Amino acid sequence: MTPYTPQRVVCLQPSATLTMRDLGLLDRVVACTKYCTDVCPEAADGTRQVVADSWSSQADQIRAAQPDLVIASVPYQLEAVGEILKAGVRFLGLAPRTLSDVFADINVIAGVMGVPEGGEAVVRDMRRAIDDVRTQCSRDGKKPKVFCEEWGKPIIASQPWVAELIAAAGGEFVSEPGATVTAESIAETKPDVLLAAWCGAGDRVPLEKIVSQRVWQEIPAVQNKQVFCISDELLNTPATSLIGGLNAIAWALHPGQGPQPKGIRQIRSEQTMHLETATYDTLTRELSRLASHATSAEQLMTAIVERLREAVPYYNWVGFYMLDHQNPDPYPMLVLGPYVGAETPHKHILLHQGICGAAVTAGQTIVVDDVNADPRYLACSLETKSEIVAPVFVKAVAVGELDIDSHSPSAFTADDRRLIEHCASLVGHYLEKRL
Ligand code: SME
Repeated sequence: MTPYTPQRVVCLQPSATLTMRDLGLLDRVVACTKYCTDVCPEAADGTRQVVADSWSSQADQIRAAQPDLVIASVPYQLEAVGEILKAGVRFLGLAPRTLSDVFADINVIAGVMGVPEGGEAVVRDMRRAIDDVRTQCSRDGKKPKVFCEEWGKPIIASQPWVAELIAAAGGEFVSEPGATVTAESIAETKPDVLLAAWCGAGDRVPLEKIVSQRVWQEIPAVQNKQVFCISDELLNTPATSLIGGLNAIAWALHPGQGPQPKGIRQIRSEQTMHLETATYDTLTRELSRLASHATSAEQLMTAIVERLREAVPYYNWVGFYMLDHQNPDPYPMLVLGPYVGAETPHKHILLHQGICGAAVTAGQTIVVDDVNADPRYLACSLETKSEIVAPVFVKAVAVGELDIDSHSPSAFTADDRRLIEHCASLVGHYLEKRL
């Protein structure tokens, strides 16, 4: 006699839905949660009822799907478990902590569903993928100290299976998995890498904000920008999606090894925390007003460089260069005008020299994301990483330029470019009106 196997399954967590898919049994899932489609897009074909998860289950909802099995998994809320039991349906409740638990649970689901070999195959593939990453990650001999959190307020360290994935990627987890910890205690462990995957937050953990709120600026991970958000579903869903999480962890722990995988985002450098678009608009308006009251071109240029340097933290050197045809030298030359920032050796620049010369010669804004990779670059400060130069036009002829250096690589976005070109045009219009 063929043993009875469930035909109408309700999955109360994405891990259950994903495992059913991996076993080729998605057609037996009659209801799942709205989060299930994050890891299992195939579940969103419109044929399934959507139910609350095991954090907020409701007996009526479950019953309405007329299931013959309910599969739930972590996280649970006590009352929600009561609701599941109230539904009066056969209930498989999983609560994995370690990777071995995750593998065992996949086999349990496969067994209950009558496809034990399917479970073995899924687990075998997972183990193989983990072993491959372990081998690759052991090559560079690095063993970074890593902290990973599954919640931010309070700070809760990620589950043991995440600590195991970190170990597989060659890292050392600095906290007790699953424990509630303080920002200070984590800072004391001096992690080299910080990872955040808040339950239910997708990829939206505000990395820059948590670093400043927790006063974590001195932690090696922050100093070296090794702070990452990994999409929640890749680390907090105890199923095959953990392999995606493992790939993201491996990329974070071994920078430069292979392309960036899906589901991971790195913190922006503090200095390049770009302004809100609204701030650019306000600045643009403010500078236009300033230009309408300017008493001389020199005064206008001085006001612009001072305001820009003050308003945008990653504009580290801001200055104008203007063309001088009367220079004793027979060639036209760019001469340094008002500027704010480190003293520069380049007070005079010929038109065939530097990024400054190139921008005026071409009559075009030039943005250089990595100055050290640009052979034209004339160094002003060793700290400069990126630069933008926008020409000042009078009657469509370039007569000078606004030059800005940043200590952050790739600091200049389209918003910066618009703002800087606007400032250059304010000086151009001022000069034009007084011709
Ligand atoms: N970097 C410029 C020279 C000017 S200083 O940076 C202030 C250039 O390459 O033209």
